[in-house]
Amino acid sequence: MEETEACANHSPLVLLKQGAEARVFESNFVGRRSVIKERFSKKYRHPTLDTKLTLRRLNAEARCMTKARKLGVCTPALYAVDTVLNTLTFEYVEGPSLKEVLLEFGLKGVVEEWLDDIASQVGDAIGKLHDGGLIHGDLTTSNMLLKSGTNQLVLIDFGLSFTSTLPEDKAVDLYVLERALLSMHSSCGNVMDRILAAYRKSSKQWSSTLNKLAQVRQRGRKKTMVG
Ligand SMILES: Nc1ncnc2c1ncn2[C@@H]1O[C@H](COP(=O)(O)OP(=O)(O)O)[C@@H](O)[C@H]1O
Ligand SMILES: [Mg+2]
Repeated sequence: MEETEACANHSPLVLLKQGAEARVFESNFVGRRSVIKERFSKKYRHPTLDTKLTLRRLNAEARCMTKARKLGVCTPALYAVDTVLNTLTFEYVEGPSLKEVLLEFGLKGVVEEWLDDIASQVGDAIGKLHDGGLIHGDLTTSNMLLKSGTNQLVLIDFGLSFTSTLPEDKAVDLYVLERALLSMHSSCGNVMDRILAAYRKSSKQWSSTLNKLAQVRQRGRKKTMVG
């Protein structure tokens, strides 16, 4: 891990991830282990437009995460929003990502009861978001953490989230996860089917969403055939 003295007045920040839109640091917030997510500007954008868009995304991420919480989905606590430094500060969640857990299952064999528990938590959480009109927008296995000790699923990264009640938006949300699972974790068996079984139980509108999902899959297939 790389150490950086990004801000002289704070405890040293440890860079966890450098992405295209944001940098994520581990830090300390009034004595608590925390995560700072800093959105940075895109150099090719006009400065005034850029400031506006960065601020809008920062606020949207904070709002969507708070909304998810209200819908009964476990997310890290939001400690602070800084609209000058463009940062969000979250509670640090101790525990592996779903990606890490599934990769380990791939190497050492699947722990069936654990996978069942995870899949049912994932399907349940997405159902709650969708029934509340919230689309996560980036449902990958890196954006799902499993709390050490309790194995409680915690959803993170609401940077691409938005509100919508359209079955199409919900279906695409699920499709992103399906592709991620197929491409990276196929050795764990059909995890998506287990997730969808839980989604049916959790979402009242499962039927229209899953019908759309069938269409979205078909479109995906045609695209692959042409491309
Ligand atoms: N609250 C948190 N607790 C622990 N680790 C976190 C937390 N938030 C983010 N991370 C880690 O940082 C990574 C990047 O954060 P994320 O919000 O997903 O940013 P990005 O938009 O760049 O993907 C995550 O995949 C995870 O490993
Ligand atoms: Mg992420």
